[in-house]
Amino acid sequence: MAHAQLPVIPRRFGETMRRDSWWLQPAVVLALLSSFIVYATWAAFQGEHYTHGPYLSPFYSPELFGDSPHAWLGPKPGWWPAWLAFSPALLILPFPGLFRVTCYYYRGAYYKAFWADPPACAVGEPRRRYRGESSFPLIVQNIHRYFLYIALGFLLVLAYDVYQALWFSDSATGRAEFGIGVGTLVLAANLTMLTGYTLGCHSMRHIVGGYLDRLSRSPVRKRAYDCSSCLNRAHMRWAWMSLFSVAFADLYVRLCSMGIWSDWRIL
Ligand code: FES
Repeated sequence: MAHAQLPVIPRRFGETMRRDSWWLQPAVVLALLSSFIVYATWAAFQGEHYTHGPYLSPFYSPELFGDSPHAWLGPKPGWWPAWLAFSPALLILPFPGLFRVTCYYYRGAYYKAFWADPPACAVGEPRRRYRGESSFPLIVQNIHRYFLYIALGFLLVLAYDVYQALWFSDSATGRAEFGIGVGTLVLAANLTMLTGYTLGCHSMRHIVGGYLDRLSRSPVRKRAYDCSSCLNRAHMRWAWMSLFSVAFADLYVRLCSMGIWSDWRIL
């Protein structure tokens, strides 16, 4: 087969022959991810207004230690460092946070948006040497599969939170009665988005699909692989929708708890 040798032309940072608005996507990603990080960090350090009635903010779930009735193991533990303000979110938020940080989709997005490596396809980079993810520090991104196992556990906890959000305390008798509020729907929608995002993870397909280079001969696993692949095709969309839904669910519970918003009972 005939082939031509094309010279590799080194480009300066930002230099390109592209005429489209290649900078727009990384700029939007930078703005949205930065806003989420600022809000999530602020919310995690608040340590209050994370429950309202049967609702628990997903940023604080599972609440291992805390003062709310949702706490699994009681109030603030004695070993908590005195110099650090106590917040139940600080104990658990790093796990879903690192699951997202090491996600294959987000890596591609924030490598471009946060350190321009590269800023976009066919656009000059700020550095000449490519170290990739096969050497330190980015090799640690390969830990993603293990965070997936933890994220699956979080889905079960959030599903239990949605179940809890169906039981409201009767103001007269104090007994739990079945009901549905807008908050129930907000938490359920968030669970749906996070499930679509997590089950469409690239590593999920490897886990359910089989091993080595062939699909499992089990029809159940083959079906699971197909479902995960289907979700994976829209992984970017699930990633963004779940990012918005989890932030909105926290905001909803927070504003209801502060008395700024009222939770409407539908049933
Ligand atoms: Fe995105 Fe695993 S690749 S969550």
